[in-house]
Amino acid sequence: MASQPLFSTLPPTIEWRDGDLLLLDQTRLPHEIVVENIADVKAVWRAIRELRVRGAPAIGVAAAYGLCIAMRDSTTLPVALYRAELERHANWLEAARPTAVNLSWGVRRMLRHARDIDAKDSATLHAALVEEAKRIHDEDRALCEGIGEHGMPLIREGIGVLTHCNAGALATTGIGTATAPIYAARRAGLAFKVYADETRPLLQGARLTAFELQQAGVDVTLIMDSAAASIMSQGLVDLVIVGTDRVAANGDFANKIGTLGLAIAANHYGIPFYVACPSSTLDLQTASGSRIEIEERDAEEITHLAGRRIAPDAMQARNPAFDVTPHALVSGFITERGIVRAPFERSLRTLFDAEGTAA
Ligand code: MRU
Repeated sequence: MASQPLFSTLPPTIEWRDGDLLLLDQTRLPHEIVVENIADVKAVWRAIRELRVRGAPAIGVAAAYGLCIAMRDSTTLPVALYRAELERHANWLEAARPTAVNLSWGVRRMLRHARDIDAKDSATLHAALVEEAKRIHDEDRALCEGIGEHGMPLIREGIGVLTHCNAGALATTGIGTATAPIYAARRAGLAFKVYADETRPLLQGARLTAFELQQAGVDVTLIMDSAAASIMSQGLVDLVIVGTDRVAANGDFANKIGTLGLAIAANHYGIPFYVACPSSTLDLQTASGSRIEIEERDAEEITHLAGRRIAPDAMQARNPAFDVTPHALVSGFITERGIVRAPFERSLRTLFDAEGTAA
């Protein structure tokens, strides 16, 4: 399957090349294209923590390859020791960011695979793990395509679509999740307009979504987060599609801070509000959104702008990176297996089992 076909000018978000892990540094975009060759597991942890690789699906793929990097010099260990080391690195890597379930999903899947392999030596076990990471990577691209196929009918000629943060190609290894229906509709030749929220404080909308949509020739307009409700009130938005970091069993979901406000505004104006969600982002073992851990990041991300302090010295600040939107505000989840509608508890369980795989 072609990788990120709309972005011939950009290196892939994540690349596994002859045993090396290459990550496109998303903190430098859009003005610098820097690819980092990840030296060791600490560098993987830092790349995830510092958002050089970010977006729930991309984090999951990076973590799977990250474990291969962590273990690449351990292939001469006795198998039991290799397994113990793998588990230790997995537990540590999993804690790099708490909200996106894809991180623990990717790590746990690698551990499960290691447990299922009856290897006589560590080199064999390691080779099997690399193959599993490649499978996770390939599947991620396919999940994006599935979301694009099922979400495309929501986009009609001439409409306005609003999205938040970056749930795009850069957040995945394919055509994105929230952007997948947009790219699919664009490929089909439809003309429509996209509004991209800038997404304070780290500006994933301005730096990443606006950039990748523009590169792909989509008609995209950047707006401030605080302009979204006003743009909706003017009748310019017919559809909202956002991504997600974790969907609980009842359909409550976590996504980039500001999503909740968008959902409330969309509901107020009667605008359909959809969440693009690959099965790797389902957490059906968590009953509801109140149980989702929300990452709180350094206050400096909001007291400073481009390295310069903008708030008064010693200012108290809160910086939750995500919020939880209750399922009642969701029109549907666009998954790779189709659009899931309320009652979500039942419809999600019908399509997916507790591990998030096809039921
Ligand atoms: O902090 P980030 O940039 O990792 O947050 C990303 C988001 O909130 C995305 O919307 C979400 O991960 C879905 S990406 C397909």
